[in-house]
Amino acid sequence: MEQPITISIDTTPVTVESGTTVAGAMISQGTTAWRSTRNNERPRGLFCGIGACFDCLVTIDSKPNQRACMVRVREGQQVVTDAAKERA
Ligand code: FES
Repeated sequence: MEQPITISIDTTPVTVESGTTVAGAMISQGTTAWRSTRNNERPRGLFCGIGACFDCLVTIDSKPNQRACMVRVREGQQVVTDAAKERA
């Protein structure tokens, strides 16, 4: 059985199983888009899921431009989306 891991996504605590990616944790909470395109502000989030498209970028533990689909959750991880930065 996988172990529960709690991370923070835009200051909201989220608990998922170990081995889950950050993108998986976000989608488990119903978040499907956390960025927007420069032109027309169309929604961006998980697209390829294999680290090729860079649509899923987030800031993880103060490191910007991390691919959410390629990073596995770690206890206490702090994830900040562009959407949250724009609201601040
Ligand atoms: S969804 Fe394409 S790089 Fe993450």
